[in-house]
Amino acid sequence: MNIVLHLFPRKSSPSVKPPESDTVGYGVYIVRAAGCVECHTPARHGQIDKALSFTGGREFGLTGGMLCSANITPDPETGIGNWTQEMFVVRFRGYDPVVFTPAVLKSGDQQSIMPWTMSAGMTTADLAAIYHYLHSLKPVKNKALKIRPLVAK
Ligand code: HEC
Repeated sequence: MNIVLHLFPRKSSPSVKPPESDTVGYGVYIVRAAGCVECHTPARHGQIDKALSFTGGREFGLTGGMLCSANITPDPETGIGNWTQEMFVVRFRGYDPVVFTPAVLKSGDQQSIMPWTMSAGMTTADLAAIYHYLHSLKPVKNKALKIRPLVAK
């Protein structure tokens, strides 16, 4: 019976968009919508380890090799703790789809599944909110989880 009850349709409960003035709350909202935690957390059998949220190290097999997601907790050494808000915004803007349009990847070119060109189109307020939310997290040292270069030069 318990199982049957779970099968009944439920009313959807879409999350309410917080006002942009609530910087951290708005950041949480965007980060959830963009699925950042899914990629930036180690996973086993497709399930992320929530205790290690945002500490990076999920591995993705690409044609050129294995790619590790980065630690995006505010640890100064191994995460983004030393990044200023400006650095953060610039890092995303660098992949502006208008500017960054490699039709064919050459050896050594950036190859990533990080949705850079998509997120480059976010507003500065969106990126600032993400930055503030990530900086409100507990810093976790996780040095082993660094980006592994894909293509040997
Ligand atoms: C589809 C998987 C995926 C999603 C979704 C994703 N990322 Fe990433 N991200 C990666 C991978 C893999 C890397 C490492 C490779 C690279 O830098 O391109 C990375 C790198 C980064 C870096 C660079 C860190 C450094 O030390 O250079 C930042 C910052 C970042 N992601 C933030 C975010 C945020 C914020 C979101 C959500 C808006 C997000 N990512 C969503 C996979 C993802």
